[in-house]
Amino acid sequence: MSLFAGFGSDNHSGVHPDIIKALRDVNEGYTIAYGLDEYTKHAIDKLKKIFGKQTAVFFVYNGTAANILGLKSVTDSFHSIYCAESAHLTVHECCGPENFIGCKLVNIPTNDGKLTIDLIEPYVIGGGDPHMAQPHVISLTQATELGTVYRPKEIQKLADFAHANGMLLHMDGARLCNAAAFLKVDLNEICGKVGVDILSFGGTKNGMMFGEAVVFFDKELSKNFEFIRKQGMQLTSKMRYISTQFSAFLHADLWLYNAQHANQMAQLLAKELRRIRGLKITQKVEANMVYAIIPNHCITALQKKYYFHRFNERTCEVRLMCAFTTKKEDVFEFVRDLQKYI
Ligand SMILES: Cc1ncc(COP(=O)(O)O)c(C=O)c1O
Repeated sequence: MSLFAGFGSDNHSGVHPDIIKALRDVNEGYTIAYGLDEYTKHAIDKLKKIFGKQTAVFFVYNGTAANILGLKSVTDSFHSIYCAESAHLTVHECCGPENFIGCKLVNIPTNDGKLTIDLIEPYVIGGGDPHMAQPHVISLTQATELGTVYRPKEIQKLADFAHANGMLLHMDGARLCNAAAFLKVDLNEICGKVGVDILSFGGTKNGMMFGEAVVFFDKELSKNFEFIRKQGMQLTSKMRYISTQFSAFLHADLWLYNAQHANQMAQLLAKELRRIRGLKITQKVEANMVYAIIPNHCITALQKKYYFHRFNERTCEVRLMCAFTTKKEDVFEFVRDLQKYI
C-alpha cells in the first residue's frame, strides 16, 4: 500500500482544476516566446494591480530560483544577508545562495521562525569595515517555515530598521497567500505597503503546477534581473504556461479560497490533536501547518500509513501540513489512527 502523503507538504497536493483549464486554454496556436506574449503581459498587469504599478514583475519556475535570483540581483559578493536559522533560504536551498550569490548568510536563531530587530541587531556589525562582510539584506519568510505569520506592523518595523541601516528587506512569500488569508488582509498589506523591497511570490504550494513571481517594489532594484534570470537558467521560452497560471490563480480570488481552506484544515487538525492527552502543539497554528510532539512509538506506527516529516528527531517533533486539497475526513482519519496508538 502506498503511503498517504497529504500531510507531508503542501507540495504534495495536485493542481487546481481552474489552473489546469487555464493551461489547456493557453495551449492553442502560437505566441511569441520568452515572455513577450499577451498572456504574460496580462498576468504582469494583474500582479501590478495588486502590488503597485511602480513594481517590476518577473516569472521563474520555482521558489528557490525566485529567492536566489531576486537576491543576487541586489547584492555584491561582499554583502551579508540576514535570515532566520529555519529559513528555507539557508536550510533547504543546498547552499545555492552561497554558491550563486556568493554572499555571507547570517543565520539567526529564533523560537518561532520570526525575526525581530532585537534578534538581528547584535549581528549587524562591520558596516564600512573592509575586513568584514557588509550588512545588506534582511530576508524573512511569510508565512514562516514554522507556520507562524508576521503582522504588518512587525514587517514595517523590520523594514524601517533595514532601511535605517542601509539595507533592503526581502520576503520569501512561498506561502504569502496563507499569511494574508490568516490575517484577513490584501496581499500587498504585508509586503509593498509595509516596506518590503523584493518579494518571491509563490503559487506552487497553493494550487498552481509551477511558477513563482519575483516582484521588485522599486524598478531601479530590478535593473539587472533579466540578465541574471537568463544566466540563472530560469528564462523559460514557453512563458505563457507560467503566466496563464498566475492569471487564473489571481482570478476571482482563487488564491484566497485555496489558502483559506488549507489554513482551516490546519486549525481543524490542531483542534483535534489538542484533545489527545500526551500531545503537545509546539508552534502557534496560524498558516497551514501544525508542529507537534508525538510519542516516538506513535510516529513509527503512523509512518507505516502516512508520509510526513520528523522535524526534530531528538524531541519527536513532527510537521504536519495541510493544502488546498486537504479533506476533513483525512484529518479525522489521521487523528483516529493516532489515538489508536497512543
Ligand atoms: C518557504 C519556502 N521558500 C521557498 C521554497 C522553494 O520552493 P521550490 O521547491 O519551488 O524551489 C519552499 C519550498 O518548499 C519553501 O517552503
